[in-house]
Amino acid sequence: MGKTGREIRPLVAGNWKMNGLKASLGEAMAVRDALQGPLASLPAEVMIAPPATLIAGFAAELGSSPVLLAGQDCHPKPSGAHTGDIAAEMLKDAGASAVIVGHSERRTDHGETSADVRAKAEAAHRAGLVAIVCIGETHAERLAGSTLAVVCGQLEESMPELSTAANTVVAYEPVWAIGTGLTPSPDDVKDVHGAIRARLVAQLGVEGEAMRILYGGSVKPDNAATLMAVENVDGALVGGASLKASDFLAIVRAYENV
Ligand code: PGA
Repeated sequence: MGKTGREIRPLVAGNWKMNGLKASLGEAMAVRDALQGPLASLPAEVMIAPPATLIAGFAAELGSSPVLLAGQDCHPKPSGAHTGDIAAEMLKDAGASAVIVGHSERRTDHGETSADVRAKAEAAHRAGLVAIVCIGETHAERLAGSTLAVVCGQLEESMPELSTAANTVVAYEPVWAIGTGLTPSPDDVKDVHGAIRARLVAQLGVEGEAMRILYGGSVKPDNAATLMAVENVDGALVGGASLKASDFLAIVRAYENV
C-alpha cells in the first residue's frame, strides 16, 4: 500500500537502450535468480527492456520467472513495408509483455511527436502489450516554469483515450535528468506526479487512480528509496543502473523500505 493509501503494485523497469549482446544474458539471469520465490511476495514487478535482438533469447531463459520483458519502441502498424522497424505484434511474439513508447531519446533522435507516440501506444494495446508512455520536460522548459504544462500536454496527446491501468503505464522522465546524475527534488517529483495523477483521474476515473506512474532519470541504488517513497510514484524506469544486476536489484529492493 502506497503513501496515498492506494493499492498499486509498483513496477521497476530497466531500459537497456542500445546496450547488450547475447553475453549480457548473465545479468538478466542474475536478476531472475535473485527474485526466486512466489511472484506475489516480491515487493515490485520487475521488467527488463533489452534491445529487440535479445528479447526472444531472454524470453527462453526468463519465460517462467517473474522477470517481465519489454521492447523499447514499436511501429504503429502491425506489418508492412517499413524497413528496419518492429511491430508491437513482433515484440509480443518474441516474448515481450510491454513496450516503451515516446522515450525522450526517440522524440529527440527520431523526431517523434506525441501523436506518433499515441499511435504506437495504440499499437501496443492492439497487440496485447502494456504501453509504457514516456513524458518529460527539457531543462529549458523547467527553467521557464512550464514543466506542468509541458508534461500534462504530452500526456494528453500521447495517451490513447481508452487506456486502462492494466494496459498503460506512465513514465515521467525529465529530459535533463536522463543519464546526467541529476534528479529533481522529491518535492518537485511530488508536484509533477500529483499533476499527472489529477489528469489521469479526470480523464479515466478509477482507471486513472490505479494507473502506475513511474519516475525515470538517474535513478540509482542510493536515491531509489527516497524517490520511490514520494506520493504517486509507483515505480521506476531505470536506464544506466539497470545494466548491472547488482545495481538494478538494489533499486528493486528500495521497495522493502518504502
Ligand atoms: P538513466 O535513464 O537512468 O540512465 O538516467 C533513464 C531512462 O532514460 O529511461
